Amino acid sequence: MTSGGTGAMRPFAGRHVVLGVTGGIAAYKAIQIARDLTVEGALVDVVLTAGALEFVQPLSFEALTGRSVYSRAHAPADPLLHIRLARDADLVVVAPATADFIARAAAGMADDLLTTVLLATRAPVLVCPAMNDRMYLHALTQANLARLEQVGYATAGPAVGPLAWGEGEGPGRLLEPEEIVASCGRLLSANDTWSGRRVLVTAGPTREPIDPVRFIGNRSSGRMGYALAAAAWRRGAQVTLISGPSAVPPPFGPERVSVETADQMRHAVAELLPAADVLVMAAAVGDFKVADVASQKIKKSGGNVPQITLAPNPDILRSTRPLRPPQCVVVGFALETENMAEHAREKLLGKELDLLILNDAGENGAGFEVTTNRVTIFDRDGGVADLPLLSKGEVAEEILDRVELRLHGTAG
Ligand code: C5P
Repeated sequence: MTSGGTGAMRPFAGRHVVLGVTGGIAAYKAIQIARDLTVEGALVDVVLTAGALEFVQPLSFEALTGRSVYSRAHAPADPLLHIRLARDADLVVVAPATADFIARAAAGMADDLLTTVLLATRAPVLVCPAMNDRMYLHALTQANLARLEQVGYATAGPAVGPLAWGEGEGPGRLLEPEEIVASCGRLLSANDTWSGRRVLVTAGPTREPIDPVRFIGNRSSGRMGYALAAAAWRRGAQVTLISGPSAVPPPFGPERVSVETADQMRHAVAELLPAADVLVMAAAVGDFKVADVASQKIKKSGGNVPQITLAPNPDILRSTRPLRPPQCVVVGFALETENMAEHAREKLLGKELDLLILNDAGENGAGFEVTTNRVTIFDRDGGVADLPLLSKGEVAEEILDRVELRLHGTAG
């Protein structure tokens, strides 16, 4: 299900998420998680343990989710509450999960609302540990986490970083809210078609040096490619994002390979392509590079105005034709200003693509530097889909729906 504009998004829209919050200092981050999940369209039922109530108040969650919050103090007189929450849930996420909670869950305890929900649910469970680094590294905590994974729970984090005041740095920090929300998205939408598939996405601009401090670049933000990498990871794929320099934070989940020039991007693609099931070339690869890169900064003294001679860059997408595994689904992008459909078809055939995504360069709110896009998708069987103006996240989902159709029937 999709919605237009910036409203509820796949995979969260209309999904029930139980957010369990336990008593750690990182409980404040759970407020942001509850908000972000709600903004994405999820129906969030927050369950606070007795320990959590020492750190955060139910009212904060109620105000942000617009729903009842369940805790010892607020438990309604409903003996079947745990069964109802467990049955309605599409996902249970515990963030932060303390060492104590992890131990109780691993032992199969049912001594409070959250542990009873865990035992009663058949939904996927995500546990996000947060604690002191020595407690996290203790053999018992590690064994308890291994036990949770053994029974099928997913875990995310902890991150290595600053811990509570005066405790310095170490493994034990709760992941950031957006990372936990991304992990929730993966559990809500991972499917068999994508799990185990390797997806290679290029994104962002390339930079061609003129001298050690100057370069030729372009206005690509990387957002479209980042949205595609995030969405493919959410569907369960193993994703590598090869990105040129971008100010946009990279998505949580995909592995990242950073490059600058088109030649570096071509090498990275050539190295990873033989194992890829899907190649998406969303990068705005510079068509030209500087023929003679100056080894020292070019001086302006003496009225010197340098003449820069350009040389062509390789067409990376075209150069991959002999390297592609036979079943690899290949997606290219194009930005045209005239005879758009005709040029799109030429590119689809010439570069041997399965899908070509045409950006409408003349449309406000589409293309470079914006968060929305309006595209037409051409497929190699002659199909054409004109999409309305959508967020880049939604465009990514539409593209991956079509890639998914092509992946069906090929071995994973
Ligand atoms: O030919 P054009 O630049 O319009 O093609 C765009 C598509 O080809 C995009 O998918 C882009 O990532 C890819 N491309 C490439 N190498 C280039 C130029 C474009 O891979 N040098």
